[in-house]
Amino acid sequence: MIAAETLPNTAGALAGWVVDPQRIKPGTQMSPNPLAPDDLQAVVAYLQSLH
Ligand code: HEM
Repeated sequence: MIAAETLPNTAGALAGWVVDPQRIKPGTQMSPNPLAPDDLQAVVAYLQSLH
């Protein structure tokens, strides 16, 4: 779980978090990151490789 246990560690949820964290955890200090689809996919693949 990430973001203080608000989010399951799935590709779709991670992508949603990276693009628009406010929608998942209102009030979070993390900014939106409007990445191109290929870049978003690469970032999510990298994050999933970390555990
Ligand atoms: C592509 C860029 C980014 C990625 C992939 C990313 C990824 C993440 C992830 C996975 C978490 C959850 C960490 C955890 O709870 O274990 C997180 C949290 C956070 N990130 Fe980012 N982040 C990005 C950009 C940014 C930027 C630009 C900022 C600040 C301007 C930022 C600020 C934060 C903050 C403050 C948190 C804690 C949020 C909370 O729990 O309320 N992030 N980020």
